[in-house]
Amino acid sequence: MDAEKEKNENIIETIDLTKRFGKKNEITAVDSLNLSVKKGEVFGFVGPNGAGKTTTMKMLIGLLEPSSGSGKVAGFDIVREVIKIREATGVLPEPAGFYDNLTARQNLRFYAKLYDIDEKTREKRIVDLLELVGLERAVDQRTGGFSTGMRKRFGLAQALINEPGVLFLDEPTSGIDPLGAQMMRDLIKKLSKEKGVTVFLSSHSMAEVEEICDRIGVIARGRLLAVGTVDELRDKVREKVGIRYALEVQDLPVQRVMEGLRGLKGVRSVEAVNGHISLLTDLGARMEIAKAVKSMGGTISMFEEERMDLQRVFLKLIEAA
Ligand SMILES: Nc1ncnc2c1ncn2[C@@H]1O[C@H](COP(=O)(O)OP(=O)(O)OP(=O)(O)O)[C@@H](O)[C@H]1O
Ligand SMILES: [Mg+2]
Repeated sequence: MDAEKEKNENIIETIDLTKRFGKKNEITAVDSLNLSVKKGEVFGFVGPNGAGKTTTMKMLIGLLEPSSGSGKVAGFDIVREVIKIREATGVLPEPAGFYDNLTARQNLRFYAKLYDIDEKTREKRIVDLLELVGLERAVDQRTGGFSTGMRKRFGLAQALINEPGVLFLDEPTSGIDPLGAQMMRDLIKKLSKEKGVTVFLSSHSMAEVEEICDRIGVIARGRLLAVGTVDELRDKVREKVGIRYALEVQDLPVQRVMEGLRGLKGVRSVEAVNGHISLLTDLGARMEIAKAVKSMGGTISMFEEERMDLQRVFLKLIEAA
């Protein structure tokens, strides 16, 4: 396979992936999910509590069997080739569970043995990984005594023990302090950039997802609402709910401008807010507005689109669903 082709390869792919729970299959946790994640991407999976993020991840790593549909991870079928998937992936579950009466080193030894890693490689890797996640001084501490942040970082070390090409991280920073969370994000970026690891993570922090993810999937009630870069998601919302502008005009009374703009094609609403005019418009109405103000004899001193951060975009997508 040539390099370009390999780069564009989908390393995670699902087709109509569905999971139902309950005696009568009455709970649809994941509903006909079609997703693809490219090799080397950091993909963020976001959605309200109970949206189906963890259930999706569990199906992708072979911990839960789909009710219908299919999926592939690293080229392996998520139902028939679970062992291959275990070898190719690393997982940080939420909550992460370890053998709490064992030390960090002993825990990692245990997981390394599951992967048949030879002793010399294993012992070096354990030390390297604990250093990578900043736990070098806790090598011989029992994990039972670890704080929430230490547990998350240790969980990442554990997920990396088999040098996986794909990492599944379920809420990797929830419950950790800001410094620890930043360290985790920097590590995730580093793994992706320097090692080419594909990362599939879930998070409730939109700022975090905006910072580290190449693309984002938004899920609610089991259904994928949107997928794309932050800009693509923003455009989707702009198309749906319109664009908000702040406008300031000189040489004309505000009321006169507002009257003139009301009823203009593409203008949905006009309000006065904190000394400026707030407009909600369709896409592509900007030029017409500028022209209209000019023809009324006004001079525009400010005409800015209100930039939506991912938090706003997310809320709008969920609201509109
Ligand atoms: N083992 C189970 N039995 C029955 N219902 C389940 C089971 N696991 C998950 N569910 C249901 O499936 C839905 C999706 O849950 P899931 O844990 O995947 O959501 P999530 O997006 O990870 O939420 P959170 O952000 O709270 O972690 C929920 O309605 C949940 O109650
Ligand atoms: Mg979850």
